Amino acid sequence: MTKETQQMMDRNLVIEIARVTEAAALAASRQVGRGDKVAADQVAVDAMRDALNSLNIQGRVVIGEGERDEAPMLYIGEKVGLGDGPKIDIALDPLEGTDITADGGANALAVIAMTDEGGFLNAPDVYMQKMAVGPDISPDILDLDAPVGDVLKKIARGKGEKVENLTVCILKRSRHEDLISDVRKAGARINLIGDGDVSAIIATTDPDTGIDLYVGSGGAPEGVLAAAALQCIGGSMLGRLTFRNDDERARAEKWGITDLNAIYTKDQLAKGDNVIFAATGVTDGTMLRGVRHFPGGAKTSTIVMRSKSGTVRRIEATHDFTRKTWWKDL
Ligand code: FBP
Repeated sequence: MTKETQQMMDRNLVIEIARVTEAAALAASRQVGRGDKVAADQVAVDAMRDALNSLNIQGRVVIGEGERDEAPMLYIGEKVGLGDGPKIDIALDPLEGTDITADGGANALAVIAMTDEGGFLNAPDVYMQKMAVGPDISPDILDLDAPVGDVLKKIARGKGEKVENLTVCILKRSRHEDLISDVRKAGARINLIGDGDVSAIIATTDPDTGIDLYVGSGGAPEGVLAAAALQCIGGSMLGRLTFRNDDERARAEKWGITDLNAIYTKDQLAKGDNVIFAATGVTDGTMLRGVRHFPGGAKTSTIVMRSKSGTVRRIEATHDFTRKTWWKDL
């Protein structure tokens, strides 16, 4: 393939990828507030898979719905796409925020990232300790082992602010009680979220959100997706896998991870200058509006980013359900 053809395919993919997250978000949006997170996830998975299988790629799911025996679709290793075109590794979460969707809360997203073969960390579905800041802060200040108060002092210095004026975003979980207390002792404010750390990490890159630091442990697959977004939009992140038992350690080893204590940078989680990332809002959130239904159709808001160019596109789409297109059955 010539360089020009490759470039054209990259660019086309940037637009095609938006259809994939739109499809998942449209499907999931029908389940918002219905109290059934399993059903919400399932329709998003089905829709994303169908959309992926219409793309001219030789895709391989690297971060997916789980291992083959636990996920019948979009499992890790599943081949997707029409089978020609470039070889692409895919990290996906058809519904990031299953509980949010079931409860009708904020910040549920359909998310996908793509890169060249081997570009994503093969992260098993375990927890990952994460720390992330926006592009205005030097990556050197990130430190998973330092007291969080020290990190906050460095961020404050970098921003010319007082620690009291910084806001830290943390998942509201009992495992974070000490962390929350340390942040409060340091004097910073906390934005406690119920779910959805992909959008929380991306929020550190946007001064309008007021989030200065994301810290805490969440899903490792979500860590890779967030790193893919930061690779495109800027910002830094560290992640370290954490294991609750030998089964989880064995899963990591199965995916080729030899150093179980490794700390991964953004570049190690989602490598290279050929990453593309897309997310469509399912419910309203800090980054995107959710799906808005109207008689005979719906509107979606999508963000698509590309690391090579640094371009960030926002796509506002109006879908006409009365016409025959690939999403008519959603
Ligand atoms: P799901 O969409 O899979 O429910 O994930 C939501 C989420 O909040 C993630 O954003 C986060 O990384 C993870 O769950 C945290 O896991 P836990 O709920 O076990 O603390």
